[in-house]
Formats: sequence, structure tokens, C-alpha cells
Amino acid sequence: MPAHSFSTLLFLLTFLATQTSQLPIPYEGYFPRKNLLPPPLRDPLVALIDEKCYTSLIENFNLTDLGCIKYAISKALGFGIVLGGAIVKIPQILTIISSSSAEGLSLAAYYLESLSCVITLVYNYRQGNPFSTYGEVLFLSLQNIAITLLILAYARRQSALVASAVAILLVAKALLSPDIVGPGWMQTLYAATIPINLASKVPQIYTNWSNGSTGKLSAFAVLNYFLGSTARVFTTITELDDPLVLAGNVLASLFNGILAFQLIYYWRKNKGIPPQVIEEVKKAD
Ligand SMILES: *[C@@H]1O[C@H](CO)[C@@H](O)[C@H](O)[C@H]1NC(C)=O
Repeated sequence: MPAHSFSTLLFLLTFLATQTSQLPIPYEGYFPRKNLLPPPLRDPLVALIDEKCYTSLIENFNLTDLGCIKYAISKALGFGIVLGGAIVKIPQILTIISSSSAEGLSLAAYYLESLSCVITLVYNYRQGNPFSTYGEVLFLSLQNIAITLLILAYARRQSALVASAVAILLVAKALLSPDIVGPGWMQTLYAATIPINLASKVPQIYTNWSNGSTGKLSAFAVLNYFLGSTARVFTTITELDDPLVLAGNVLASLFNGILAFQLIYYWRKNKGIPPQVIEEVKKAD
């Protein structure tokens, strides 16, 4: 029997078993019929959308409960973005390791990006925000720090490597201690990361515009960043009450939106000629 029909059968049997064993005793006023799930399915769902929304959406199947539907979508999107963020820079790291070189990567850019990620991470953590609303920055921080250290390692700058590793630990320790970096300062630092993140996109937008092409920019990365940052606007509105985080996400979505627009606009204008070819033709001219 193929695996999928076996699992369908198993599901039906489980479903029947849970339904029939929970049939209400047939007199009025007894508990209402509910869609009960077995614990291995129930527990993770409760952990995700909490008891109240689990009861409303799954047990009572109340599809008019818009608050809980929005919350459930937000949680699913949030963890999707966390998972995406966990792997987004792995290809880059593997490329550096397999070629034993980090040539062409800007050390300054990675210092700045690592710092901005760590500040965002600690700000959200100290605010007590749910992990699903910011978790990707944990993984982005680790990946950016790894790339920074790899750049130094392959450039054979051992003392700078050790100094950077120590500096990262000290910065993390300071940011995590409210006695050293008070709440006001933490907020200021986080606010400062917003224009820094946006500024890093401006040169790319300008280059695309002046070339009339998006060049070697990865369409996959641009569209993912746009979709991710836009979904973050939704999860922020749904789950947080923090105008600063909302402003940061709205602006990030806007700037990523400009890049995505350029990508599609120049793709159509250049009639589907792959951007790399245009780049090469330009170089040959
Ligand atoms: C469904 O949810 C809505 C919104 O919370 C609520 O007003 C309504 O009473 C619920 N309906 C049932 C059948 O539980």
C-alpha cells in the first residue's frame, strides 16, 4: 500500500476513534460536540495559538472568530519567517568555506549588519516580545557573526579575529545588562538601526536605476526579503504594540518593495533577457 494512502487511512482511523469515543451522551444540555484532536496534534497547536484560540478555532470550529484567525495566521507566518531566517545565509557561508575565501565581501558591511541584528535581537528580547515576532534575527545575528569571523579568518587576520570575537561577547553582555545599557538607551540604539538598515539598500536601488537593470541581484533573495518584511508588518500589528518596531518593519517593507518593483519593472522592460546577459553586454560596450 502506498505511503500516502496508508497515512490517510491512519488519519481516518484516528479521527473516527477520537470522534466516536467522544460522542455526547444523547440528552439535551450535555457538553457540545467538539472536534477533539489526539494530544500529539493538540499540544503543539495549543502552544502555538494558546488555549483560548485553540478551543475557539479547532474545538468549536468557530470560523467567525476573526481575532483568533488573525492570531493563528500571524503565528504561522511568524514561525515561517523564523525558519526562513535560520537558513537564509547558509549558502553564503558554505560558498565561503568551500572556496576558502571571502573575497569581495565588505568587512565593514558585515560588522554593521551583525551589530544591527544583535541590537534588534536584544531589544525585542528585553521588551519580552514573543519569539515568533522576531526570532529570525537570532539566526541572522549568528550567521552574520559567522561570516564576519570567516572574512577575518580567510584574510589571515588572527589578532583582528580574536579582538572581534571578544568585542562581540562584550557588546552582547553590555546590551543584555539593564545596568549598563538602560531601557532608554536600548530604545535609542534600536531606533538607530532602522535608518542604518534602510541606508544599506539605497546604493543598490541607485545602482539598479542608473544601470536600467537589476544586474546580478538575486531575484529569489529580493522577493523573499520583500515578502518576509511585509509579513512582519502583519505579525507586528497583530501581536505587538510597539510603534518603533512597526515603523522599522513598514520602512523595511517599503524599501524591499522598491527593489522588488525594480526587479520586475526592469525584467519586463528588458523583455525577459536575464539580467546577467545585460550586465555582460554593458561591460562589453
Ligand atoms: C465565535 O467567535 C465570535 C468572536 O469571538 C463570538 O462572538 C461568537 O459568539 C463565537 N461563536 C460561537 C458559536 O462560539
